[in-house]
Amino acid sequence: ISLKSLHTFQLPYSASEVITIQKAEELEEIEGNYLVLGEGSNTIFTCDFARPVLRIALQHINVTETDDSFRLRIGAGVNWHQLVIYTLKHNMPGLENLALIPGSVGAAPVQNIGAYGVEVGEFIENVTAWDRIKRTWRVFDRDACAFAYRDSIFKRKPDQFVITEVSLTLPKEWQPQLSYGALAHVGKDASANEIMAAVIAVRNSKLPNPHEIPNAGSFFKNPEVTLKKFKSIQQRHPDVAHYQLANGNIKLAAGWLIDQLGLKGFQCGGAAVHRQQALVLINCEDADGDDVLTLARHVQQKVAAEFQVSLEPEVRLMNEQGLIEL
Ligand code: FAD
Ligand code: EPU
Repeated sequence: ISLKSLHTFQLPYSASEVITIQKAEELEEIEGNYLVLGEGSNTIFTCDFARPVLRIALQHINVTETDDSFRLRIGAGVNWHQLVIYTLKHNMPGLENLALIPGSVGAAPVQNIGAYGVEVGEFIENVTAWDRIKRTWRVFDRDACAFAYRDSIFKRKPDQFVITEVSLTLPKEWQPQLSYGALAHVGKDASANEIMAAVIAVRNSKLPNPHEIPNAGSFFKNPEVTLKKFKSIQQRHPDVAHYQLANGNIKLAAGWLIDQLGLKGFQCGGAAVHRQQALVLINCEDADGDDVLTLARHVQQKVAAEFQVSLEPEVRLMNEQGLIEL
């Protein structure tokens, strides 16, 4: 079965089997070493995949409310952006900064999706998952999810948990979040819908639409460095894009580092560095898995040589058996 249309980088590989489950309880019956796949917007298959692929079709959105918040229970198969639109349409603001992030609700807690100053972990009440090792159902409250930048317990233990439902709490007392540079032009009295429109406009101006140009969003994470290392980089590159972290370290903008090296548009076979956003690698001309891996390693080596910073992939790169490291 072709995986091309099941992951947004659209490499031409296949899997032996793709199973779709319609009810959470079906997980209790399924054995085998399957890979859970949402919409494949953070997964790149670099060759044919030898394990079965499991998809979750659960599509419910149940809303309850208390005096001060809305509580949503959402099936893992719901599309994330459709959920954001649903919440705003029903006057439940909060998720507007996370508009247009591709993928499924079930994958959102896995890497704690984030954009424009907001991370999904802030809204998570709990996550329901099937534990494939202990063969039991588990409910993780927010603390148990161990959210961090592009990280969670689910990401650290790949292939153990199958998320079937995510519960979010949206406080009725809404606070607009406009701290991110790209939203600085939005007025303080903007509505949630106006903020969503601004987020969508910024995203459309630099992130390629995967339906038009296959890609998987940011290919690498933004690296965290010590203050000492940051100062040595800043000495040579006074305008290096960075953010101060609460722990005293500095987060560097990986896209800026790659851009400085003149790599925008750089191509290996059919894979290239996107011209509008250097942190995004694209499949511009029938790329194969080797093109992507060669390009990614080239970018890593150039950045390491110039800045002594190592870039870690944000995307999940898969070989025939599972996750690979670069
Ligand atoms: P998949 O790629 O299908 O899966 C991702 C990982 O989660 C895999 O390891 C998979 O095994 C696991 N997984 C999926 N579903 C489940 C489940 N139900 N239970 C357990 N594990 C599961 N991300 C951001 O954080 N911020 C952004 O701004 C952003 N922008 C993007 C822009 C573009 C153009 C693209 C293509 C991607 C972007 N991403 C961004 C990355 C991507 O949207 C997120 O990682 C998203 O959560 C992936 O969802 P998915 O369903 O496609 O996951
Ligand atoms: N920059 C450049 N050149 C580039 C790209 C970026 O100079 O080619 C500079 C920008 O000018 C800016 C800084 O780098 O000063 C940061 O760029 P941007 O605002 O585009 O964000 P990013 O750090 O590249 C991160 C996330 C995105 C998320 C945006 C907005 C990671 C790895 N990526 O990108 O998430 O949408 O911030 O919050 O943290 C994703 O995870 O797939 C993703 C797209």
